[in-house]
Amino acid sequence: MRASVISENVREVLLTAEQIKDRIAELARDIERDYEGRKPLLIGVLKGAVMVVSDLARELQIDLEMDWMAVSSYGSGTVSSGVVRILKDLDTDLSGRDVLIVEDIIDSGLTLSWLKQNLESRGAASVQICTLLRKPERLKVDVPVRYIGFDVPNEFVVGYGLDHDERYRNLSDVVVLKPSAFGGSDDEISGPVEPARKVV
Ligand code: XMP
Ligand code: MG
Repeated sequence: MRASVISENVREVLLTAEQIKDRIAELARDIERDYEGRKPLLIGVLKGAVMVVSDLARELQIDLEMDWMAVSSYGSGTVSSGVVRILKDLDTDLSGRDVLIVEDIIDSGLTLSWLKQNLESRGAASVQICTLLRKPERLKVDVPVRYIGFDVPNEFVVGYGLDHDERYRNLSDVVVLKPSAFGGSDDEISGPVEPARKVV
């Protein structure tokens, strides 16, 4: 990693830029096959999904459109409540569109479950979800996700668009930070972080 001011806070690299790139190419092949002859609308959820959308969209060799939404889920601290507020809405009319929501990470699934229903209610022909990461241990609702990059352990992850207090989004890798990066003590580290697993 090049940025040393950042890398001194990194406990472990969970996914390298190369692993992410390869997996996004695989997902793109699946999406191309499924959307052949259609023109999907990729909806990126700001801000975390910016890197995923930008790499996925360039990998996809099909006609598509892109739009962006920003939502915030009410809740205490890092725990999502499922009550969602739209901070920035789409510019696109969804009637009859094939929508593909693109996310960085699914944690409880509450945000995406709400978003999927919201977009369906606007008359989209189909609404599917693509996420780079999923935390399976934390899922609370059964939201069908068609395209998933990797399952990650129940750790707070940053990089490749994911932030802690708006920092680390510019890392090329997905990493787990040291407790000291959150104001804790690195003596709390008990062992290695479980690896990320490709979802097949
Ligand atoms: P839910 O619980 O509704 O929330 O699925 C998903 C959103 O929670 C954020 N999130 C994270 N952000 N590192 C992050 O930087 C994480 O480990 C993490 N886990 C959840 C993220 O905004 C995601 O869209
Ligand atoms: Mg997000």
